Amino acid sequence: MAVERTLIVVKPDGVKRGLIGEIITRFERKGFKIKALKMLWIGKEQAERFYSVHKDKPFFNDLVSFVTSGPIVAMIIEGDEAISVARIMIGLTDGRKAQPGTIRGDFALSIQENVVHASDSKESFEREYRILFNENEIVGDY
Ligand code: CMP
Repeated sequence: MAVERTLIVVKPDGVKRGLIGEIITRFERKGFKIKALKMLWIGKEQAERFYSVHKDKPFFNDLVSFVTSGPIVAMIIEGDEAISVARIMIGLTDGRKAQPGTIRGDFALSIQENVVHASDSKESFEREYRILFNENEIVGDY
């Protein structure tokens, strides 16, 4: 058993559509422990850092505008193989192609406005969570 942490972000479309509770519930019911949770509204510089791996992509500017268009909810969850399990639970990037039963499969019809983000690797998690959280916002064992 490999206990891992991963970062989940409810994007501005998910927040505006009232899906915060639904998304948190899915991860709680699956058995993950929430280690940190907050609502925040990131600015352009923070968004550009968060999505820096996509900086050369044609959709980069639109993506930055989108993720700064309203508040987001970020959480760190912990559990067995959290990174790969969370990726399965959110579904494919393109909501039109994501399997029903996944978060994007059930709630997204767009490749950009796809409701939720989850770190795709341990390296991504280590980089991404530090952009959104301070260490003292992560709770101890419970
Ligand atoms: P996410 O999993 O957060 O990682 C990068 C984000 O960029 C992705 O979800 C989408 O919101 C967005 N994205 C990825 N591919 C495209 C695309 N082809 N066109 C527009 N947005 C995209």
